[in-house]
Amino acid sequence: MENIHPIFDQLLSREEQEKLLNQKSKVFWFTGLSGSGKSTLAKGVEKELHKCGFCVKVLDGDNVRSGICNNLDFTLAGRQENIRRIAEVAKLFIDTGIIVICSFVSPTTAVRNTAKQIIGEDDFYEVFIDTPLEICEQRDVKGLYKKARAGLIQDFTGISSPFEEPIKPKLRIKTKNRSIEESTDEILQKLLTFI
Ligand code: ADX
Repeated sequence: MENIHPIFDQLLSREEQEKLLNQKSKVFWFTGLSGSGKSTLAKGVEKELHKCGFCVKVLDGDNVRSGICNNLDFTLAGRQENIRRIAEVAKLFIDTGIIVICSFVSPTTAVRNTAKQIIGEDDFYEVFIDTPLEICEQRDVKGLYKKARAGLIQDFTGISSPFEEPIKPKLRIKTKNRSIEESTDEILQKLLTFI
């Protein structure tokens, strides 16, 4: 940080931005296996919150990995750096008064702790999209499980790379035997009590 002179304190404050948007910013951090439904539910909740008059931004794994994080792999170090960057970006949105939905596998307690630390505990709401591996693998929407089982993808979460379940998430959504609409609504109703 030598020779760097940040001007955070001279810019519009988060409170001023929140006042303009008439909302309180927060980060809702969706974690879960690939194929668990994170992106689908993030899309649905984004739309519903928008209808309710909130200004929302979704940051999603595949999107981010095709842009700001397109030089990162899926080793634990690559994922750590992915999550660090996302958390910093999410923080920029919070400071602009915007509600953020982050949708990332974020497979370990360590990476989620990094995010929580950067974003700040008070603004970090962990949402565990709890779909069993067998179901994600059955769905295999992107065909990645099949490739991972065939050894064509390295370090695949749930197959050849760990997924540590969150111990005490703010919200745990079990998607098994439930429709997308039901799960979206359950998340929405809960989030509305937090904002
Ligand atoms: S994270 O672990 O760093 O949080 P992130 O959410 O950005 O992962 O990206 C996960 C997405 O990348 C998955 O939904 C899947 O489409 C794709 N992907 C490609 N390779 C892998 C892999 N080895 N493990 C997990 N997801 C992968």
